[in-house]
Amino acid sequence: MTIGIIGSGGLGSNVARALAKKGITATISTRRGPASLAPLISELGPFINAGTTEEAASADVVLVAVRWIDLGEALSNLPAWNGRIVIDGTNPVEFLKPDSPDMNDTSNPLAAYGIKAIDLGGKYSSEVFCEFVPGARVVKALNHLDVNVLAQPDVSGGQRVQFYSGDDAAAKAKVRKILEAIGYFPVDLGSLAVGGRLAELPFGSLAATNFVKI
Ligand SMILES: NC(=O)c1ccc[n+]([C@@H]2O[C@H](COP(=O)([O-])OP(=O)(O)OC[C@H]3O[C@@H](n4cnc5c(N)ncnc54)[C@H](OP(=O)(O)O)[C@@H]3O)[C@@H](O)[C@H]2O)c1
Repeated sequence: MTIGIIGSGGLGSNVARALAKKGITATISTRRGPASLAPLISELGPFINAGTTEEAASADVVLVAVRWIDLGEALSNLPAWNGRIVIDGTNPVEFLKPDSPDMNDTSNPLAAYGIKAIDLGGKYSSEVFCEFVPGARVVKALNHLDVNVLAQPDVSGGQRVQFYSGDDAAAKAKVRKILEAIGYFPVDLGSLAVGGRLAELPFGSLAATNFVKI
């Protein structure tokens, strides 16, 4: 089973770091092209390869780790998904520009965190996300924790809990195996409509909760 990661920022690079620690191979891409990933590849060692976004998107399991506003561009002109598994690691938030007036917007309860919720018209985020990857089996995972803890699955004498949700049992089972291989304690939250909502930032009631299974 091959793994691809589209996006090599906070989320993509830390998942790659977590995979590399366990000797699990993956291909990671960025908007700026594979050559720009040389420092990350040199840090992570031989298990993580830099590729084009098309190459990363050709894997059996593909983590999408780009900002919400970049989904359209990142996921266009890619090979057909044909039932392959896509992990939705995104959250529907806009990152505010430091020093912009938006940072002082008192109507935005998230301004202090430098983010703003994106209005999805009452839809849950994976419902919208699925429209960008027609024909894929989408599993939502790896989106609910601060990325800086992802590469430390073993913590406080236990395993860090990772929520996942999806509508295809076989796809969920494969993602669960990957989460287990990294060392997390995966917890199935059910369907995308139920679990996706619970774990999505910024307003899901389980978003950003950092549980440890002892
Ligand atoms: N930050 C967190 O704590 C956190 C936690 C959980 C989930 N998330 C979610 O994870 C997603 C990514 O967040 P992040 O913090 O990792 O953002 P980030 O640090 O800004 O990284 C975004 C990455 O996406 C890449 N990208 C953008 N457009 C692309 C394209 N067309 N093709 C290929 N790659 C493209 C960027 O490449 P370039 O650098 O070359 O532009 C960059 O590597 C977001 O949806 C966010 O809500 C974030």
